[in-house]
Amino acid sequence: MNIVVLAAGQGKRMYSALPKVLHLLAGKPLVSHVLETARQLQPEKLVMVYGHGGEQVRSALAGDDLHWALQSEQLGTGHALAQALPALSDAAQTLVLYGDVPLISEASLRRLLQAGQEGLAILTVELADPAGYGRIVRDPTGRVACIVEEKDAGSDEKAIREVNTGIMVLPTARLREWLAALKNDNAQGEYYLTDLVALAVAAGVPVHTAAAATEWEVLGVNNKLQLAQLERQYQSMLAERLLLAGVRLADPARIDVRGSLTHGRDVFIDVGCVFEGEVELGDGVEIGPYCVLRNVRLAAGCRVAAYCHFDGATVGAESILGPYARLRPGAELGPEVHVGNFVEVKKSTIGAQSKANHLAYIGDAEIGQRVNIGAGTITCNYDGVNKHKTIIEDDAFIGSDSQLVAPVTVGRGATLGAGTTLTKNAPAEALTVSRAKQLSLSNWERPKPKQK
Ligand code: UD1
Ligand code: CA
Repeated sequence: MNIVVLAAGQGKRMYSALPKVLHLLAGKPLVSHVLETARQLQPEKLVMVYGHGGEQVRSALAGDDLHWALQSEQLGTGHALAQALPALSDAAQTLVLYGDVPLISEASLRRLLQAGQEGLAILTVELADPAGYGRIVRDPTGRVACIVEEKDAGSDEKAIREVNTGIMVLPTARLREWLAALKNDNAQGEYYLTDLVALAVAAGVPVHTAAAATEWEVLGVNNKLQLAQLERQYQSMLAERLLLAGVRLADPARIDVRGSLTHGRDVFIDVGCVFEGEVELGDGVEIGPYCVLRNVRLAAGCRVAAYCHFDGATVGAESILGPYARLRPGAELGPEVHVGNFVEVKKSTIGAQSKANHLAYIGDAEIGQRVNIGAGTITCNYDGVNKHKTIIEDDAFIGSDSQLVAPVTVGRGATLGAGTTLTKNAPAEALTVSRAKQLSLSNWERPKPKQK
């Protein structure tokens, strides 16, 4: 089959510089959801009709399998499909999808294709409030006669609740002739794709309908209210899936997954968490409230307290993180590591059982096992031009408020006294202190206020 995705419209009602089909749903452009579903059907030809935001749309959507058809003026959905004609193979049926109807399911499309094996088939849905949609008009025997657009409909037709979702499958060989016959003498002065239905009926081509599996999967996005509503719909569907797969969610209405979230058994996620990109949570992982995890792997048994922000990090089993911890790209933590409040780790490895429990910056560092990093420790990794590495070997103890001016190495089992500014390597097993000696002056007197 051929698939044509119509995505040339401007989306005026989005009030945005971004073309409508590039607005994000669950972290992904609307039209990418459509393309993903389209590819599951393994079409022979996959054609995108684009227009508004031309290059922006093209460069945002990768894929060698995509054919591009430019519709430089938006003269209607029929005119849009006509632009795709040269790319279609005549021998196969053509399925028309909309770039702004992102949640259409593979199951509904397969049902539609089944119905449209011969002739033409329309995916329809019964709506309590059909306003705005094209209505499916049937003859007295129940056969489809035509589709009437809302703006061209009389009051009888407006009362019809079965509507056109816009998604149809058509006999490609007939399209050239039918599309050439379309007229734009209607309320909107557009070439309507929907008028092909009456042409098919007149030509004696059978017209079938298939019902969409759910109402929300055929909902389009025309403004940001609808976008937000679909986002909630999609998120609640994902939350339901997680719950049924055994994840415990404190509140299924307060989780957002913008990418893929894979998980083991007995995972718990508290309220307000956002998952982006690819996130993997091992068995028994617990995530506290209001955490943001992006491209993160947490091994089994990790516990993350509230308000953590992790991006591009991996964490070994049974580690304890947060509250208020930040892991940045390249943070690789071993098992049973503790990273506490206001600790930032970037492009660093931290070995098993090491701890940085309070207020520290660890950047471009290699930290061994069982290392203790005191509060206020900073790796001074940046000289204004270059980044340098800090190495801290196993069992070292870094006293509070130390600065490690990289490149520098702290040897195995070394101790740094509190407040050390380390500019040379600290030898193994020894105590290194750089602070000035402590003095006490017994003959010193505190200034006194003047007597009045
Ligand atoms: C269309 C259908 C209507 C259906 C509704 C479902 C027609 C005439 N009407 O109406 O029966 O109930 O969808 O949502 O088909 N587009 C182009 N080029 C154009 C015009 C539109 O690519 O010149 C694309 C848009 O980007 C969009 C899709 O086609 O993805 C639908 O266009 P839109 O203007 O939203 O159609 P509706 O008026 O909603
Ligand atoms: Ca629309």
